[in-house]
Amino acid sequence: MISVSDIHMHFGGIRAVDGTSLTIDQGSITGLIGPNGAGKTTLFNVIAGVLKPTSGSVTLDGEDITGLEPHQLFAKGLLRTFQIAHEFSTLTVLENLMVVPGDQPGERLWQAWFHNDRVREVEDRVREKAREVIEFLEISHLENELAGNLSGGQKKLLELGRTMMVDAKIVFLDEVGAGVNRTLLNTIGTSIQRLNQERGYTFCMIEHDMDFIGRMCDPVICMAEGRLLAQGTVDEIKANEEVIEAYLGTGRKHKARGEE
Ligand SMILES: Nc1ncnc2c1ncn2[C@@H]1O[C@H](COP(=O)(O)OP(=O)(O)OP(=O)(O)O)[C@@H](O)[C@H]1O
Ligand SMILES: [Mg+2]
Repeated sequence: MISVSDIHMHFGGIRAVDGTSLTIDQGSITGLIGPNGAGKTTLFNVIAGVLKPTSGSVTLDGEDITGLEPHQLFAKGLLRTFQIAHEFSTLTVLENLMVVPGDQPGERLWQAWFHNDRVREVEDRVREKAREVIEFLEISHLENELAGNLSGGQKKLLELGRTMMVDAKIVFLDEVGAGVNRTLLNTIGTSIQRLNQERGYTFCMIEHDMDFIGRMCDPVICMAEGRLLAQGTVDEIKANEEVIEAYLGTGRKHKARGEE
């Protein structure tokens, strides 16, 4: 579904992503792991159009999407959530879902003046959809809570909810489980699996919690120092020598002295 070819993303002398190629299969929940600074978030930012790569290309269903803007990718069903949640803190949970861009004619002021009924009709539909999302995520008790008052985990859940307001095809989750308590992590995990199975969402998720990765993901991809190290089942990845070395911090430095 997604094919990443030889992506380089350099910031001055820093090679955050240094020639990474990988594919994400439709219908999968693909895990992306790797030590801090491996380039995972940077790669997500390139795929999601936040950063223009120094070189390389990304395709979605065979179409070259390299360099497209986030809103253009959004319209194609490619969405991402952030390592730090991006909620509107002074809006309620319901309102946060309702402001996800869709085909809401009310956003164009002149239409609001001349087509009042139509605007109200669309708003009702959007509100109904937002309520469905809230029910799906089992957070009905938080519907009218200000997003700023939510716990870190609840904010992550809300981010996931925002992806459900549109017809997402593939969602990139950056550390959706970080700082989230066990109970909420299970809720998030179950929601992801249901979206995958019941609605056909494909996911790619960055995560440090290997138990969570093990429960959720197949395949798992490991990056280190801007490059792809290994891809396989979670057990294969855990047993992979290069992966172990990367996590112990002896990866390329070791090779630089020895083999290379
Ligand atoms: N805008 C930027 N300017 C300069 N350097 C950057 C920029 N963004 C990222 N980097 C550097 O690129 C490298 C990769 O960072 P990135 O955030 O992609 O890693 P990560 O794998 O997501 O790490 P973590 O697991 O800690 O979130 C790091 O060395 C980081 O300092
Ligand atoms: Mg990161």
